[in-house]
Amino acid sequence: MELLKRLSEAAGIPGYEAAVRAIVAEALEGHVDSMEVDALGNLISHKKGDGPVVVIACHMDEIGFLVRHIDEKTGFLRIEPLGGFDPITLVAQRVMVHTDDGDFIGCIGRKATHILTPEERKKPLELKDLAVDLGLPADTVKEKVAIGDTVTLRQDFIEYGDVVSGKALDDRLGIYIGIEALKRAVKPTCDIYLVGTTQEEVGLRGARVAGQALNPDIGIALDVTIAADTPGVPPQHQVTQLGKGVAIKLKDSASISHPGMVKAMKKLAEEKGIPYQMEILPRGGTDAGGLQLANDGAAVITLSIPTRYVHSVIETAHKDDIEATINLLAAFLEKAGQIDLTG
Ligand code: CO
Ligand code: ZN
Repeated sequence: MELLKRLSEAAGIPGYEAAVRAIVAEALEGHVDSMEVDALGNLISHKKGDGPVVVIACHMDEIGFLVRHIDEKTGFLRIEPLGGFDPITLVAQRVMVHTDDGDFIGCIGRKATHILTPEERKKPLELKDLAVDLGLPADTVKEKVAIGDTVTLRQDFIEYGDVVSGKALDDRLGIYIGIEALKRAVKPTCDIYLVGTTQEEVGLRGARVAGQALNPDIGIALDVTIAADTPGVPPQHQVTQLGKGVAIKLKDSASISHPGMVKAMKKLAEEKGIPYQMEILPRGGTDAGGLQLANDGAAVITLSIPTRYVHSVIETAHKDDIEATINLLAAFLEKAGQIDLTG
């Protein structure tokens, strides 16, 4: 879990994934035959083998911001989101502003409850109303911070109860699982590319380019999915539940999983006694949507990790589900050469 902690706490908004990429490359060292970085910043690692070309995609980017404006008088920063935020999850959070002069801690605050007017209380929060306070005089801020500097949320990765919790588990958890599965798979029967992709949160951009370059027979995205098994959500809207196993995705809005892949994953999970659940996600997508459209197409699926509070700094996943996902992917890599996708 030390690796997962490092990944979760690292900063890497879409297009600026270098710090995450360095950690992934270090973790993969000695476990793959080669590593390359393409023009979009995808980290393409290759573990050579016979059999179908399997591309495993996990995205390195996390939702975050660019500095858009620095207030002349106060030094407060206005920020441009890269990825989908619910503004309410941003209030009362600490952030990091990454500048050429180093990293600065800041916060996103809101007027104290004592002085909120009844209208302000009712008005939905909007991103454009939020600002970053660096706790520094305007002149210092203007000297240190530039338009376009990146901003990430700041949160510790912790383990408690049966869960892990932190920021950017979407999708550092996918990366962690990809690396662990690659290590765990005994005698894979396929040619494996594990790709740390970029810019997923703004439209699966890295995965599209990597898919085109690698021309997979099979594409597997590893990503978190919604576990809305929380108070007030009826069972039919929960998508997945924490602790009930790896989620085998049937569809989201970017891809419909290949029926042969779905069948193969279910069968493997049953054979190996790996807990699993089926996932239908009404809205949202993963890198599988990018991979499947490469060249003449690929058979894709997403293995999802059920996660509560997705796109907030307390993304929460169950340790047993993480383990189940690693085991199912490892089992698939061992069997990939024998899987019949025509049936
Ligand atoms: Co996401
Ligand atoms: Zn994701």
